[in-house]
Amino acid sequence: MPRARPLVLVSNRAPIGFSFGPDGGLEAHRGAGGLVTALRPLVDRHDVTWVASAMTDADREVAARGARDERSAAGSSFRLRFVSHDPGVYRLFYGVVANPVLWFVQHGLWNLKQDPDADLEPPWQDGYVEANRALAAAAVEELDRVPEAPVFVQDYHLYLVSALVRAARPEARIAHFVHIPWVGPDGWAVLPPAIPRAIHEGLLACDSVGFHTERWRSAFVESCEALLGRGAEAESCSHANPITVDAGEFARLVAGRGVRARREEVVARRPEILVLRVDRIDPAKNAVRGFEAFGLLLEQEPALRGRVGLVALLEPSREEIPEYVDYRLAVEAAAADVNRRFARPGWEPVVLDVRDDFLASVAAYAEYDVLLVNPIMDGLNLVAKEAPLVNMRDGVTILSRDAGAFEELAPWVVGIDPLDVEGQAAALKQAIELPPEERRSWLEAIRSHVRTHDLEAWAARELELLDERAPLRA
Ligand code: G6P
Repeated sequence: MPRARPLVLVSNRAPIGFSFGPDGGLEAHRGAGGLVTALRPLVDRHDVTWVASAMTDADREVAARGARDERSAAGSSFRLRFVSHDPGVYRLFYGVVANPVLWFVQHGLWNLKQDPDADLEPPWQDGYVEANRALAAAAVEELDRVPEAPVFVQDYHLYLVSALVRAARPEARIAHFVHIPWVGPDGWAVLPPAIPRAIHEGLLACDSVGFHTERWRSAFVESCEALLGRGAEAESCSHANPITVDAGEFARLVAGRGVRARREEVVARRPEILVLRVDRIDPAKNAVRGFEAFGLLLEQEPALRGRVGLVALLEPSREEIPEYVDYRLAVEAAAADVNRRFARPGWEPVVLDVRDDFLASVAAYAEYDVLLVNPIMDGLNLVAKEAPLVNMRDGVTILSRDAGAFEELAPWVVGIDPLDVEGQAAALKQAIELPPEERRSWLEAIRSHVRTHDLEAWAARELELLDERAPLRA
């Protein structure tokens, strides 16, 4: 086991969020999402201070009381330091720049943006830069308590933090992990040039920069060269290290009471052939084209009507952002359209379930025959790794070639082009008809890949690479 060492983690979302309970008291909720899950082994093994944004009023109340000791799901203690932003600053940072701009640019969604020509300079300066400054200042203060600690910054919300920490503490050892795709110079060209330049300079202030795939890493090298003429530096400080999921945790979940009860409900209502998708409602996840492809399959294959059903478990996400509200409406309309065309008594082709219930997703993972994962682009996609771990029906995965996970799982999935609806309908047919031996061997292969490339190894590699690139002085 690696020795415990101090570590300062910086992310926008904290591993724990707070709300006010009915009696007005503070209630803690475990933060969800891939990023928080991924960092868990670091919290469980090391002496972690986690710096994150206060996102709710209750978080802000916690922030006002100063840093506090918290416990992870596994019971390890860590220090949580919330940073409160002015609500106007936070809205510009999260709701105008980080999501509808950076997330959209980095997922090839810029055309869907409501106002692509809006002047981005003010929200960039007054929102993104300000919020990054506040988190960097808190990280520097935490670093002063433990000067030998590496600073490990996460994701697209915080591209400027490393450079700000570096300016304040030139000796700091800093790593950044980007959990979303990286695009080449053409992708960045839609933004005012000063913004991508600051983003690339920010990352190059790190000692070590991680991506989920070689494809995103090489796009980073290419854009560093094109924008700053610093491709060689980017080459030497970056790496691909795909994240994964905790196989043990999924084995425990599927055996637990919460999942068992929900699984009975799925079994009671399941069609003969169950196609499943599990996603956040996000334009990048491409649910609308998935429904269209399913409708096309039913149109082309009358014999499947009444036998196959698509269950979509979709979690509401970022609903303060207009593009996400519009996309939710489009998702609901696309699902309703398939049902309007094909439903008949006793058979509803698409069951759309919009809620946040992770255990229900795990229960459905056990029961699918086909798993549809068709994002337009995705840094990795954890569903493609989680679901096969617990599936009990030799289910087949259909996976977008533009999801990072495709780089690892390609031999054992039906690959699709996420923009090609006809191709997805054909892939659904192919997956449904795949011979049993192949179904089983593909599923087994995915499982064994996920079990052998575990989260511990991911976290250990991040720290090893940082140590190599910025050796710890004795
Ligand atoms: C997804 C992405 C992560 C990102 C997170 C932020 O999980 O894969 O890269 O950090 O969303 O989500 P939030 O709910 O905080 O906007």
